[in-house]
Amino acid sequence: MKKRITSTGINTTFISSPMNEAAVALPGFSNAARSWDELLTDQVDLLAEFELDYIKMLPEWRSAHRVVDIGCGNGAYLSKLAGQDPSKVYLGIDPSNELIAFAKARDANGISFRRGHAPFTETGQFDLILLRFVVQHISNPSAFFHDLLPMAHCGTSAIVIEPSFAGSTAQPSLPELTALIARYERTCRSEQRTRALVDDNAALAAFIGTGWCIEHTGRITARLDRATWSSEALRRVLHGWTSMLAPNSPAENVDCARQEIDDWIDGAGASIEIALNITKLQRRIMQ
Ligand SMILES: C[S@@+](CC[C@H](N)C(=O)[O-])C[C@H]1O[C@@H](n2cnc3c(N)ncnc32)[C@H](O)[C@@H]1O
Repeated sequence: MKKRITSTGINTTFISSPMNEAAVALPGFSNAARSWDELLTDQVDLLAEFELDYIKMLPEWRSAHRVVDIGCGNGAYLSKLAGQDPSKVYLGIDPSNELIAFAKARDANGISFRRGHAPFTETGQFDLILLRFVVQHISNPSAFFHDLLPMAHCGTSAIVIEPSFAGSTAQPSLPELTALIARYERTCRSEQRTRALVDDNAALAAFIGTGWCIEHTGRITARLDRATWSSEALRRVLHGWTSMLAPNSPAENVDCARQEIDDWIDGAGASIEIALNITKLQRRIMQ
């Protein structure tokens, strides 16, 4: 089944894989939205604990009172964060009506979610802006970062989190999946998509403009193995990624990659290290 999501701004074809319980529990949504909901939920289930260990240590997180998650998707990530510190005030914003509906339906932490996109109506009140797995999808990142400025005050930080395919490794290796990724990355580079630039600090520095500065760049690695993963969640995530990479590759290569993933997950001794680049930005103080 193939669907195209346009309302999210993610212009990609997504083939649904077997759904998890969270997705099935909410009827009345398009299959594409359910697939995204499922993928975002699984990614949070697999990766968020590694990210939270890092974020909880940040002084910017500890001191923040008002936190906004731009491109919050189905809200699963913001919900995890809110569970860590209910004393903060949280807002999630996303251009997708359906993902915001999922977020509102599930919220148990009193988070505000609203549909929206830049330019934003909120001004000056956020201490921390989260941008997780979003910047890669933005077609004009310079304009996007400029549009974030009114939400910030002079002490505001922004945290950009992006997966690094190049920094991620599997044992045993997954050559078919690696080939799909390489073809996708080549296409992104040749078409100068933002995805090709998010691993590059010089490119990031150029498109955040004069209103922000890079304060710190770091990488965390989520190491998943049989003892720590939910194999079905990992299977769905890797299949979901394969579906997103599919438009750049012949169908037989995609089928081989999917089979390879299944064999790998079902085989003995598999482990994967998924690298996430985390960049801390600071609102530049205007004189
Ligand atoms: C891969 S999802 C990440 C969702 C969530 N941040 C997470 O980590 O689970 C990317 C999200 O970016 C949103 N998005 C796309 N273009 C956007 C834009 N211009 N402004 C804000 N969000 C955008 C999409 O609707 C989608 O929910």
